[in-house]
Amino acid sequence: MALRIVPLVFRRGGQSTVTISCLPCRSFVASTRVSSETLHVHRDTAGNNPSIPFKFNEQSLKLIDEILKRYPPQYKKAAVMPLLDLGQRQHGFTSISVMNEVAKILEMPPMRVYEVATFYTMYNRSPIGKFHLQVCTTSHAIRAIGLTEPQTPCQLCGSDGIMKAIETHLGIHPGETTPDKLFTFSEVECLGACVNGPMIQINDDYYEDLTPESTISLLDALSASSKQTALDHKGGSDAGKTTGGNAEEVKVPSPGPLSGRKSCENSKGLTNLTSKMWGPEVTRSDL
Ligand code: FES
Repeated sequence: MALRIVPLVFRRGGQSTVTISCLPCRSFVASTRVSSETLHVHRDTAGNNPSIPFKFNEQSLKLIDEILKRYPPQYKKAAVMPLLDLGQRQHGFTSISVMNEVAKILEMPPMRVYEVATFYTMYNRSPIGKFHLQVCTTSHAIRAIGLTEPQTPCQLCGSDGIMKAIETHLGIHPGETTPDKLFTFSEVECLGACVNGPMIQINDDYYEDLTPESTISLLDALSASSKQTALDHKGGSDAGKTTGGNAEEVKVPSPGPLSGRKSCENSKGLTNLTSKMWGPEVTRSDL
Protein backbone atom coordinates (compact mmCIF):
# COMPACT_ATOMS: atom_id res chain seq x y z
CA MET A 1 0.00 0.00 0.00
CA ALA A 2 1.40 3.30 -1.02
CA LEU A 3 2.11 5.71 1.77
CA ARG A 4 0.55 9.11 1.61
CA ILE A 5 3.22 11.73 1.94
CA VAL A 6 2.06 15.04 3.28
CA PRO A 7 4.41 17.74 2.02
CA LEU A 8 4.72 19.65 5.24
CA VAL A 9 8.01 21.33 5.92
CA PHE A 10 8.02 23.89 8.62
CA ARG A 11 10.56 26.66 8.28
CA ARG A 12 10.16 28.81 11.33
CA GLY A 13 13.17 30.87 12.37
CA GLY A 14 14.11 30.93 16.04
CA GLN A 15 12.43 27.63 16.90
CA SER A 16 13.99 24.37 17.79
CA THR A 17 13.83 21.20 15.69
CA VAL A 18 10.27 20.12 14.91
CA THR A 19 9.24 16.52 14.24
CA ILE A 20 5.96 16.00 12.44
CA SER A 21 4.44 12.60 12.77
CA CYS A 22 0.92 11.37 12.00
CA LEU A 23 0.04 7.87 10.84
CA PRO A 24 -0.11 6.83 8.10
CA CYS A 25 1.99 9.84 7.03
CA ARG A 26 5.77 9.71 6.92
CA SER A 27 7.42 11.86 9.51
CA PHE A 28 9.66 14.75 8.62
CA VAL A 29 12.28 16.53 10.61
CA ALA A 30 12.61 20.19 9.73
CA SER A 31 15.58 21.94 11.27
CA THR A 32 15.63 25.54 12.25
CA ARG A 33 16.83 27.97 9.61
CA VAL A 34 20.11 29.45 10.67
CA SER A 35 21.38 32.82 9.58
CA SER A 36 24.36 31.30 7.77
CA GLU A 37 21.96 29.72 5.27
CA THR A 38 21.92 33.01 3.42
CA LEU A 39 25.55 32.32 2.53
CA HIS A 40 24.49 29.52 0.22
CA VAL A 41 22.48 31.74 -2.04
CA HIS A 42 23.78 34.13 -4.68
CA ARG A 43 21.50 36.79 -6.07
CA ASP A 44 22.87 39.22 -8.65
CA THR A 45 23.07 42.75 -7.31
CA ALA A 46 24.42 45.98 -8.78
CA GLY A 47 27.72 45.46 -6.96
CA ASN A 48 28.02 41.68 -7.35
CA ASN A 49 27.11 40.14 -10.68
CA PRO A 50 29.03 38.26 -13.37
CA SER A 51 29.16 41.25 -15.73
CA ILE A 52 31.48 43.13 -13.34
CA PRO A 53 35.00 42.42 -14.62
CA PHE A 54 37.63 41.02 -12.27
CA LYS A 55 41.25 40.23 -13.07
CA PHE A 56 44.08 39.40 -10.70
CA ASN A 57 46.70 42.14 -10.54
CA GLU A 58 50.37 41.59 -11.25
CA GLN A 59 51.29 40.97 -7.62
CA SER A 60 48.54 38.38 -7.21
CA LEU A 61 49.50 36.70 -10.48
CA LYS A 62 53.06 36.24 -9.21
CA LEU A 63 51.71 34.61 -6.05
CA ILE A 64 49.39 32.42 -8.11
CA ASP A 65 52.39 31.18 -10.09
CA GLU A 66 54.12 30.28 -6.83
CA ILE A 67 51.04 28.55 -5.43
CA LEU A 68 50.45 26.50 -8.57
CA LYS A 69 54.00 25.16 -8.42
CA ARG A 70 53.01 23.29 -5.23
CA TYR A 71 50.63 21.02 -7.11
CA PRO A 72 51.07 18.62 -10.03
CA PRO A 73 49.56 20.30 -13.12
CA GLN A 74 46.72 17.76 -13.33
CA TYR A 75 45.70 18.62 -9.75
CA LYS A 76 45.93 22.38 -9.96
CA LYS A 77 42.32 22.74 -8.89
CA ALA A 78 43.59 21.88 -5.40
CA ALA A 79 44.72 25.52 -5.32
CA VAL A 80 41.15 26.76 -5.28
CA MET A 81 41.20 27.90 -1.65
CA PRO A 82 44.39 29.99 -1.72
CA LEU A 83 43.31 31.55 -5.01
CA LEU A 84 39.90 32.47 -3.63
CA ASP A 85 41.66 33.99 -0.64
CA LEU A 86 43.91 36.04 -2.91
CA GLY A 87 40.88 37.20 -4.87
CA GLN A 88 39.10 38.21 -1.69
CA ARG A 89 42.13 40.15 -0.45
CA GLN A 90 42.46 41.99 -3.74
CA HIS A 91 38.78 42.68 -4.39
CA GLY A 92 37.63 43.12 -0.79
CA PHE A 93 35.19 40.22 -0.92
CA THR A 94 34.63 36.98 -2.83
CA SER A 95 32.33 38.21 -5.57
CA ILE A 96 30.85 36.01 -8.27
CA SER A 97 33.39 37.51 -10.71
CA VAL A 98 36.26 36.53 -8.40
CA MET A 99 34.94 32.96 -8.28
CA ASN A 100 34.53 32.83 -12.07
CA GLU A 101 38.08 34.08 -12.60
CA VAL A 102 39.44 31.44 -10.21
CA ALA A 103 37.48 28.77 -12.10
CA LYS A 104 38.95 30.00 -15.37
CA ILE A 105 42.54 29.96 -14.12
CA LEU A 106 42.18 26.51 -12.56
CA GLU A 107 40.20 25.15 -15.51
CA MET A 108 37.43 23.81 -13.33
CA PRO A 109 33.64 24.17 -13.56
CA PRO A 110 32.53 27.42 -11.86
CA MET A 111 30.02 25.41 -9.79
CA ARG A 112 32.89 23.56 -8.09
CA VAL A 113 34.37 26.92 -7.05
CA TYR A 114 30.98 28.18 -5.81
CA GLU A 115 30.67 25.03 -3.70
CA VAL A 116 33.96 25.76 -1.93
CA ALA A 117 33.27 29.47 -1.47
CA THR A 118 29.82 28.86 -0.03
CA PHE A 119 30.99 26.14 2.35
CA TYR A 120 33.69 28.10 4.16
CA THR A 121 32.50 31.10 6.13
CA MET A 122 35.91 32.78 5.77
CA TYR A 123 34.95 33.73 2.22
CA ASN A 124 32.89 36.89 2.49
CA ARG A 125 30.41 36.81 -0.35
CA SER A 126 29.28 40.38 0.12
CA PRO A 127 31.28 43.54 0.85
CA ILE A 128 32.50 43.98 4.41
CA GLY A 129 33.88 46.91 6.40
CA LYS A 130 37.54 47.82 6.74
CA PHE A 131 37.71 45.96 10.07
CA HIS A 132 35.94 42.62 10.27
CA LEU A 133 35.18 41.92 13.92
CA GLN A 134 34.64 38.20 14.42
CA VAL A 135 33.65 37.60 18.00
CA CYS A 136 34.00 34.06 19.28
CA THR A 137 30.98 32.91 21.27
CA THR A 138 30.58 29.32 20.06
CA SER A 139 26.93 29.79 20.92
CA HIS A 140 25.45 28.28 17.74
CA ALA A 141 26.95 24.92 18.61
CA ILE A 142 25.64 25.21 22.15
CA ARG A 143 22.14 26.26 21.07
CA ALA A 144 22.09 23.48 18.49
CA ILE A 145 22.27 20.89 21.24
CA GLY A 146 19.57 22.66 23.21
CA LEU A 147 21.68 24.23 25.97
CA THR A 148 21.10 27.77 27.14
CA GLU A 149 23.73 28.22 29.84
CA PRO A 150 27.28 29.32 28.92
CA GLN A 151 29.38 26.23 28.24
CA THR A 152 32.37 27.07 26.07
CA PRO A 153 35.58 28.87 27.09
CA CYS A 154 34.80 32.24 25.51
CA GLN A 155 31.21 32.14 26.79
CA LEU A 156 32.36 31.24 30.29
CA CYS A 157 34.91 34.05 30.22
CA GLY A 158 32.41 36.71 29.16
CA SER A 159 31.90 36.76 25.38
CA ASP A 160 28.29 37.87 25.96
CA GLY A 161 29.64 41.05 27.53
CA ILE A 162 31.94 41.62 24.54
CA MET A 163 29.03 41.17 22.12
CA LYS A 164 26.94 43.63 24.08
CA ALA A 165 29.77 46.18 24.30
CA ILE A 166 30.23 46.11 20.51
CA GLU A 167 26.50 46.33 19.83
CA THR A 168 26.10 49.27 22.17
CA HIS A 169 29.26 51.09 21.11
CA LEU A 170 28.89 50.70 17.34
CA GLY A 171 25.10 50.48 17.17
CA ILE A 172 25.14 47.39 14.95
CA HIS A 173 24.14 43.75 15.37
CA PRO A 174 25.89 40.60 14.12
CA GLY A 175 25.85 40.49 10.33
CA GLU A 176 25.77 44.28 10.00
CA THR A 177 28.28 46.93 8.94
CA THR A 178 28.56 50.44 10.35
CA PRO A 179 27.29 53.20 8.01
CA ASP A 180 30.87 54.54 7.60
CA LYS A 181 31.88 51.03 6.33
CA LEU A 182 34.55 50.82 9.01
CA PHE A 183 33.34 47.81 11.03
CA THR A 184 31.54 44.61 10.11
CA PHE A 185 30.35 42.60 13.07
CA SER A 186 30.12 38.78 13.00
CA GLU A 187 29.54 36.17 15.66
CA VAL A 188 31.65 33.07 15.07
CA GLU A 189 32.37 29.65 16.52
CA CYS A 190 35.57 28.62 18.31
CA LEU A 191 38.66 30.25 16.80
CA GLY A 192 41.07 27.98 18.65
CA ALA A 193 42.38 30.52 21.17
CA CYS A 194 40.16 29.27 24.01
CA VAL A 195 42.89 29.58 26.62
CA ASN A 196 42.86 33.37 26.11
CA GLY A 197 39.11 33.91 25.85
CA PRO A 198 37.15 35.98 25.37
CA MET A 199 38.71 36.91 22.09
CA ILE A 200 38.03 38.56 18.74
CA GLN A 201 39.57 38.08 15.35
CA ILE A 202 39.97 41.43 13.59
CA ASN A 203 40.94 40.87 9.97
CA ASP A 204 44.00 38.57 10.28
CA ASP A 205 44.77 39.29 13.94
CA TYR A 206 43.62 37.81 17.24
CA TYR A 207 42.92 40.11 20.22
CA GLU A 208 42.58 38.11 23.43
CA ASP A 209 41.86 38.31 27.16
CA LEU A 210 39.29 41.01 26.41
CA THR A 211 36.98 42.90 28.71
CA PRO A 212 34.12 45.12 27.52
CA GLU A 213 36.25 48.16 28.38
CA SER A 214 39.39 47.00 26.53
CA THR A 215 37.20 46.07 23.54
CA ILE A 216 35.75 49.56 23.34
CA SER A 217 39.23 51.13 23.64
CA LEU A 218 40.42 48.85 20.85
CA LEU A 219 37.54 49.86 18.59
CA ASP A 220 38.20 53.54 19.31
CA ALA A 221 41.90 53.11 18.52
CA LEU A 222 41.12 51.34 15.23
CA SER A 223 38.65 54.02 14.27
CA ALA A 224 41.08 56.85 15.15
CA SER A 225 43.96 55.16 13.27
CA SER A 226 41.78 54.79 10.21
CA LYS A 227 40.84 58.46 10.31
CA GLN A 228 44.51 59.38 10.80
CA THR A 229 45.54 57.29 7.80
CA ALA A 230 42.84 58.92 5.66
CA LEU A 231 44.07 62.34 6.76
CA ASP A 232 47.68 61.43 5.97
CA HIS A 233 46.70 60.26 2.49
CA LYS A 234 44.71 63.40 1.89
CA GLY A 235 47.43 65.74 3.12
CA GLY A 236 50.36 63.77 1.66
CA SER A 237 53.63 65.16 3.00
CA ASP A 238 51.72 68.17 4.39
CA ALA A 239 49.67 65.95 6.68
CA GLY A 240 51.41 67.24 9.80
CA LYS A 241 50.70 70.84 8.81
CA THR A 242 46.98 70.18 8.33
CA THR A 243 46.72 69.23 11.99
CA GLY A 244 48.99 72.01 13.14
CA GLY A 245 51.90 69.58 13.33
CA ASN A 246 50.67 68.43 16.73
CA ALA A 247 48.68 65.44 15.63
CA GLU A 248 49.05 62.74 18.27
CA GLU A 249 50.08 59.45 16.87
CA VAL A 250 47.28 56.94 17.30
CA LYS A 251 48.45 53.77 18.97
CA VAL A 252 46.55 50.61 18.13
CA PRO A 253 47.29 47.81 20.61
CA SER A 254 49.38 44.96 19.24
CA PRO A 255 47.50 41.72 18.59
CA GLY A 256 47.55 39.09 21.33
CA PRO A 257 46.39 39.25 24.94
CA LEU A 258 45.34 42.72 26.09
CA SER A 259 45.64 41.74 29.75
CA GLY A 260 49.39 42.09 30.02
CA ARG A 261 50.05 38.40 29.51
CA LYS A 262 52.68 37.63 26.90
CA SER A 263 51.07 34.48 25.68
CA CYS A 264 48.88 32.01 27.56
CA GLU A 265 50.99 31.76 30.71
CA ASN A 266 49.42 31.29 34.12
CA SER A 267 48.36 34.68 35.56
CA LYS A 268 49.70 33.56 38.98
CA GLY A 269 53.17 33.09 37.54
CA LEU A 270 55.15 29.88 37.37
CA THR A 271 53.55 27.29 39.64
CA ASN A 272 55.10 24.07 38.38
CA LEU A 273 58.36 22.85 36.84
CA THR A 274 60.07 25.15 39.32
CA SER A 275 62.75 22.74 40.55
CA LYS A 276 66.30 22.94 39.27
CA MET A 277 66.94 21.21 35.98
CA TRP A 278 69.04 18.10 36.59
CA GLY A 279 70.78 18.25 33.25
CA PRO A 280 70.97 15.59 30.57
CA GLU A 281 69.53 12.27 31.71
CA VAL A 282 72.06 9.47 32.05
CA THR A 283 70.74 5.93 31.69
CA ARG A 284 74.07 4.11 31.29
CA SER A 285 77.06 5.21 33.32
CA ASP A 286 79.44 3.26 31.10
CA LEU A 287 78.71 5.45 28.07
S1 FES B 1 35.71 29.07 22.55
FE1 FES B 1 36.49 30.99 21.87
S2 FES B 1 38.40 30.52 20.97
FE2 FES B 1 37.59 28.60 21.58
